[in-house]
Amino acid sequence: MIVNENMVVLSHERIAENIYELVLQGNLVDEIKAPGQFVHVKVGKGIDPLLRRPISIASHDPEQHTMTLIYRAEGKGTRLLSLVDRSERVDVLGPLGNGFSVEGQRKTALLIGGGIGVPPLYGLSRKLVENGWEVKHILGFQNESVSFYENKFGELGLTYVATVDGSLGSAGFVTDVISEEKPDFDVFYSCGPTPMLKALERQLEGKHGFISLEERMGCGIGACFACVCHKQDDPEGSSYVKVCSDGPVFPAGAVLL
Ligand code: FES
Repeated sequence: MIVNENMVVLSHERIAENIYELVLQGNLVDEIKAPGQFVHVKVGKGIDPLLRRPISIASHDPEQHTMTLIYRAEGKGTRLLSLVDRSERVDVLGPLGNGFSVEGQRKTALLIGGGIGVPPLYGLSRKLVENGWEVKHILGFQNESVSFYENKFGELGLTYVATVDGSLGSAGFVTDVISEEKPDFDVFYSCGPTPMLKALERQLEGKHGFISLEERMGCGIGACFACVCHKQDDPEGSSYVKVCSDGPVFPAGAVLL
């Protein structure tokens, strides 16, 4: 069920340059079904839906009724959000979208995240580990100042970090790590910028995997059509998917990037 709730801010911290970690508490958390779902957070006053921003759920704790959101403050809306203090309330609508499937027998998963696409993979990794999977991670960032959660991922499984300028981990992209390290895996899960996902689909062609296209989202609630994508098997056709409501998670190779 989708809930609209004024959730309580338990903590709100800057964890890297322009990157914030927001922990919210409320009953909405009881409705979260899968890692990779997102919420729509109101960032100003008024009824305009564009005052809301889609933000992925990084992790949640059903017992404490808390969820952690990690976002980049880059526009007016998210900068306003970054000013919210502890104990204040934030208007949240969600959970929205379809998350990552974590069913099936225990296997080895490779989780590949880029920039602000990294957060939903943290909740996914925790869930997979809880279900007995072996997890490996490759995290890509522009540089060290915008990197976060490397240690938290490291506590769950083998973690490689790549930065474009080489200031942390190896220099280059996540695809370079795959070429060099050749990690074994049964399923891959990825979230990040579209060029990264495109490169990964090419590099991992034929492998079983899932990608989250949350970067392609606009309004997040089916109203703006900014997220419409064609399918790879019908690139010119009239059928399409909406990332916000059909996704944001799709099987790799299903959507034309
Ligand atoms: Fe607006 Fe999907 S993001 S319709």
